[in-house]
Amino acid sequence: MPPQTCEVSIRVADPSDMRACRMLLPETFSPGNAPEALVALGADGALAGAAAIGWEAVGDPPAFPVAVHMLPAARSRGLGRALLDAVAALARDEAPALQPWTVLREDSAQAAFCLAAGFIVHHRILHFVGEAELMERMLTPYREKLDRSGWIPAGARVVPLREAPLAEVAHLVGREFHNNPGAMLARLHGRAGTPPDPQRSVVLLLDGAVVGVQLVSIAADGIPEVEANVVLPTLRRGWANLLLTQEGTRIGVLHGSRRFRFFCDDRVIDTVNLARRSGAERLATDVVLRRAVAGG
Ligand SMILES: CC(C)(COP(=O)(O)OP(=O)(O)OC[C@H]1O[C@@H](n2cnc3c(N)ncnc32)[C@H](O)[C@@H]1OP(=O)(O)O)[C@@H](O)C(=O)NCCC(=O)NCCS
Repeated sequence: MPPQTCEVSIRVADPSDMRACRMLLPETFSPGNAPEALVALGADGALAGAAAIGWEAVGDPPAFPVAVHMLPAARSRGLGRALLDAVAALARDEAPALQPWTVLREDSAQAAFCLAAGFIVHHRILHFVGEAELMERMLTPYREKLDRSGWIPAGARVVPLREAPLAEVAHLVGREFHNNPGAMLARLHGRAGTPPDPQRSVVLLLDGAVVGVQLVSIAADGIPEVEANVVLPTLRRGWANLLLTQEGTRIGVLHGSRRFRFFCDDRVIDTVNLARRSGAERLATDVVLRRAVAGG
């Protein structure tokens, strides 16, 4: 039974609450799919706020996504935290942790609320803007060293996105970012959304199989952005990421990239160091948060 406060009750939303939940938490609804929701009701039965929980655990440790929204008049009374506690209680036997529905900027009010309400920082995503030529110059000696080392298998090669098996590309990217591979494939084929830049996006093949992908898109301001850089887990911390990054940067420069935006996980020390040494400017920091459901 979800917790109750003296003037407010919290219960699982029923179908008649769903319209209000969709208005409060639009990001948690997708076409044909509504999340499970909890509602907080005032003493008069009026809606004070809602929380949504997605029952598909993502990440490591696996976490259910959660979102909370309180009506302004009901804020600062501990109800947002009470809704989160109720979600944690619901999820207790299903997954070890919760995470916010979307990645949050470190300096946002949403992150501050989550940190006050029991979430901790799991890792950070650092966003940079850098000079492509400078980055290429920094990477060249590492690439030469790699070539001399003999670590690159004979069957490895980097090809432009248009020459790669797109279904495999969509599968690798989709799995890594917990996206729908079908939606990613439709985008790669140009059937949905804006496809990545076909000239600057590159794919690492090993004996013909897709083992790495660097997708680059052109932002509204014309600056290329690395939107995804993925290497098969079994090939991480080795030659594959360096080869993919160096070739991607070289090909970007070849096609006219000057400034470009990229991001990295703060646990991937090599890329963080590379960004720092190349003089890339930090634009923003996102936090990936987790809250254990036990004891929530
Ligand atoms: C964020 C939100 C849910 C907070 O709801 P609330 O009922 O006012 O929060 P609570 O009263 O339960 O506060 C719990 C803790 O979070 C802190 N907190 C709440 N809002 C905060 C904010 N904007 N900035 C910093 N801390 C905040 C409170 O100070 C409290 O900490 P304390 O117990 O140490 O004093 C509400 O402001 C809201 O609906 N905002 C819009 C949607 C949103 O941002 N959702 C969060 C993403 S999941």
